[in-house]
Amino acid sequence: MEGVLILGGTGSGKSSGSARSLILQYLASGFGALVLCAKIEEKQRWQEYAEQTGREKDVVVISPESGLRFNFMQYLANAGEGASYTENIVNVLVESMANVNREGGGSSGGDQAFFINASKQIVRNCIDLIKLATDEKKEVKLSLAAIYDIIRSAPRSVPEMKAGEWTDTAFGQYVLAAQKNIATSGTPVNEHDYYETISYWENDYARLPDKTRQSVLSTFTSSAEPLTRGTLHKMFSTGIDVVPEDSFDGKILIVDVPVKKWLAAGTFIQVIFKTLFQQAAERRNIQENSRPVLLAVDECHYFMTDTDLDFLTTARSARVASIYITQNISNLYAKLPDRELVDAILAVLSTKIFHANNDTITNKWLIDSLGQYWAETSSYSSSRSPVSQGDEIFRAITGLGDNMTSSSTSVSETRTDKIEMEIFSQLRKGGQHNSNKVDGIITQSGRIWNHTGDNYIICEFNQQ
Ligand SMILES: Nc1ncnc2c1ncn2[C@@H]1O[C@H](COP(=O)(O)OP(=O)(O)OP(=O)(O)O)[C@@H](O)[C@H]1O
Ligand SMILES: [Mg+2]
Repeated sequence: MEGVLILGGTGSGKSSGSARSLILQYLASGFGALVLCAKIEEKQRWQEYAEQTGREKDVVVISPESGLRFNFMQYLANAGEGASYTENIVNVLVESMANVNREGGGSSGGDQAFFINASKQIVRNCIDLIKLATDEKKEVKLSLAAIYDIIRSAPRSVPEMKAGEWTDTAFGQYVLAAQKNIATSGTPVNEHDYYETISYWENDYARLPDKTRQSVLSTFTSSAEPLTRGTLHKMFSTGIDVVPEDSFDGKILIVDVPVKKWLAAGTFIQVIFKTLFQQAAERRNIQENSRPVLLAVDECHYFMTDTDLDFLTTARSARVASIYITQNISNLYAKLPDRELVDAILAVLSTKIFHANNDTITNKWLIDSLGQYWAETSSYSSSRSPVSQGDEIFRAITGLGDNMTSSSTSVSETRTDKIEMEIFSQLRKGGQHNSNKVDGIITQSGRIWNHTGDNYIICEFNQQ
């Protein structure tokens, strides 16, 4: 179970060439799958793959149209043990949001860390307030919408808090319900929690620098707000009809909330789904269910996060094959927090397929990683006069040089790259004029291919 990275310029044949041919093989072998969608046509593409491999019945489309719901907070609350689940919700939510909104390149590491800590504290206190406001005989109803409502309506300054006008807001309703619960059935533990939570809203949240609160609020607004209204609210804040674990039973889960349509909210919810799938895969008992599953991420630069590295290093034992597809390595440098992380991800995705490309960073990366060989180059210098036939024959049978003239042939060896830059413009990109054929250079760490006796092969993929 290897991780695969496919790289190639736009229209080089990644999706319709190498990815397609691998995916058809995974599906034909009975893999379950989680499919993230950047492009609107991704769902259709997968429905065709499923048809071609007789897997139509396994397709589960999670989309506003299908109406299947996944209240991930409730799922997390159910999956967790003891108090630890709050921390997991806080981490998944805030880290996903931060990843979606990160500029990449690690330029503002300190600001980012401060932002993440402040956001985690806010979310943690929202969850605690919701728990305290829930009647102890009832199930705690966590949802993204509830958290967003609290953050949006909580007083933003000490005078606002003191004025008490917030009692009519969503925040106020939760506080009043919590007060009532404490008055009727308070225990030392929840009284303490209540005091801590209220103290946070009064003393910390209301005193946060405007810039910090504004930045948390605007991040929430761009990634989470669209998920708290309309059909997306119904899908991700109300019930649970589908869970990541369904893929372990052979389902092909397509999270059809494409980034091209839903922008940051599409990225955010799919990053969450991916993270929860990865956590579930790591929890899975392989002795009881060993069905292999595929994590398929085309246009992966939208969805890659720091958690991918940890997961990819253990994915083999969790029986998860991953396919990540993007145009070039520069995309990853631009999206992930630092270069070391990208380099580590490149190392752990051990099978790589390179298609036609004009990104020099990517092409150079491959040229350097394949290494060099000793190439013989001979130079000949001579002031020789024509030699007799006898001499020619003598040289041919003895292999000795011709010492009888003043000519000299010197053979020297120079280090030469195994492939040259030109090759990246010669690889076929599919389409009718290429008879629907796509070429890719394949490397796999530590592997010498029988076919060529070398550390790479050039492979042809059919688009149809
Ligand atoms: N089924 C098909 N049969 C023939 N040609 C196709 C097929 N699907 C796509 N093509 C063509 O093949 C080329 C490669 O398309 P493909 O979508 O695989 O590129 P890509 O590398 O995934 O690009 P992008 O980065 O934009 O996603 C394009 O010119 C496209 O029009
Ligand atoms: Mg593509």
